[in-house]
Amino acid sequence: MSQTTEAPALAPDEADTVHENVVVLDYGGQYSQLIARRVRELGVFSELLPHHVALEEVERRRPRGLILSGGPASVYADGAPKLDKRLFELGIPVLGICYGMQLVALELGGRVEGAEVGEFGRSELTVDEPGRLLAGLPREQTCWMSHRDTVFAPPPGFTPLAASTQSPVAAFESVERGIYGIQFHPEVVHTPYGNAVLERFLGDVCGCERTWSATSIIDEQIERIRARVGDAKVICGLSGGVDSSVAAMLVHRAIGDRLTCVFVDHGLMRKNEGEQVIAAFRDRFHVPLVAVDACDRFLGRLAGVSDPETKRKIIGEEFIRVFEEEAARIEAREGGVRFLVQGTLYSDVIESGGGTGAATIKSHHNVGGLPDDLEFELIEPLRALFKDEVRAVGAELGLPPRLVWRQPFPGPGLAIRIVGGEATRERLNTLRDADAILQDEIRNAGLYRELWQSFCVLPDVRTVGVQGDERTYGNVVVIRAVTSDDAMTADWARLPYDLLERIASRMINEIREVNRVVLDITSKPPGTIEWE
Ligand code: XMP
Repeated sequence: MSQTTEAPALAPDEADTVHENVVVLDYGGQYSQLIARRVRELGVFSELLPHHVALEEVERRRPRGLILSGGPASVYADGAPKLDKRLFELGIPVLGICYGMQLVALELGGRVEGAEVGEFGRSELTVDEPGRLLAGLPREQTCWMSHRDTVFAPPPGFTPLAASTQSPVAAFESVERGIYGIQFHPEVVHTPYGNAVLERFLGDVCGCERTWSATSIIDEQIERIRARVGDAKVICGLSGGVDSSVAAMLVHRAIGDRLTCVFVDHGLMRKNEGEQVIAAFRDRFHVPLVAVDACDRFLGRLAGVSDPETKRKIIGEEFIRVFEEEAARIEAREGGVRFLVQGTLYSDVIESGGGTGAATIKSHHNVGGLPDDLEFELIEPLRALFKDEVRAVGAELGLPPRLVWRQPFPGPGLAIRIVGGEATRERLNTLRDADAILQDEIRNAGLYRELWQSFCVLPDVRTVGVQGDERTYGNVVVIRAVTSDDAMTADWARLPYDLLERIASRMINEIREVNRVVLDITSKPPGTIEWE
């Protein structure tokens, strides 16, 4: 933690919430976001801040507790993130998890050493002395570990609470100093009593009331939006996805008809998607909505383009152009348009806040999004929320389940799922039909919500087949279905064979252009979720 003022993850007025806050300091662990999510699920608002954030940023939030996350480094490595001891003087309880625990041990005079044998995956935990943190938990339990450095002795004055297969001190505490440490990961589902440990910390140790929920921000946000917008007008780019839909509904609740939504149909949507958005917003909720059919414009500009990055750039630029034209029309007609709604989520905020120059794998940003230099002030009512919380807010606002549970869909749409070739009208139609069959079957099998994404890819490849004694030379459709928590990593979904068979045979029978169906069994990493 340095003295330099890091940009806070949330704007000051958002961080100064009326809710109790538990700050998670991120030491770079794989599960840091998950810790904050779990804390929220247990009814306490939680923010994730980079470990090097200025101390004042932590103090300003007046948190009820502090959690130090895990991290990939060894505490002894050159440049390993350090702990600012002044955190212990804030008078709030501290819980170190994994690397966080090791830092506490190291700083306060415990013994931490790189062990010969690491401890990765499931491990057996024996609670010898429950103390305050582990009170009421079983003596023997399974937990999830991921470490090589190991705590061999707690700091002086601390009580060791538990040991595991490879960790002589897998948990410790000093109730007097309000400092706690656990080597295992309570936030992952493989630690069955993980939530119970977090509950002990939040409830008994920090004294939190646990009344926060995602939907509890609705009224607060509505008030905030009203106060900010006053008599001005607001526009919102509606993509049909969950984030912009929920953001739009929230703003509509706040200021009614002074919000106009703009839905740009670039012709790269899934089947009937545009109609569903229009039906929900214009017909059902009576939100003023301008739907722009820009299909010809987009396809015109995409003609002859097969390079993925060029496709993304073209679509991004064209989107902005169309949106600006519509915004200018609305301004000319109504006047007073000062604000623009964006469906930015907390994970976007975290990613853009703590970045350390990670490689650009694909140019996601501003594709199907809008640039920062538009002459509007931004309203981002979902900035503090994770995706699952946004869905809860959407459901509470009465959005149809089909919209609320919609899987993520990239801004450049189906164009980047026509791989290695040009996104022509014919290919888009083939892909759209295949995708509709896939969605239909996945929904019927009751699997839609379990999957992070399920979609089809159409490579620019044709293969030989035989149908009704005739030789065919047709398209290959790839099925891509993944499970994931946040799209940073993903596992290919083990779809049942009979479902796959049904999907493949429907695609080949119902779509004349398709004569072969294959399944993508690549996880992320090493693959990405999309093919382009
Ligand atoms: P990858 O393919 O990088 O994708 O594993 C991760 C997640 O991002 C989505 N994605 C996009 N979303 N604009 C978006 O709004 C884009 O240009 C874009 N490209 C990929 C992808 O669907 C997955 O959920």
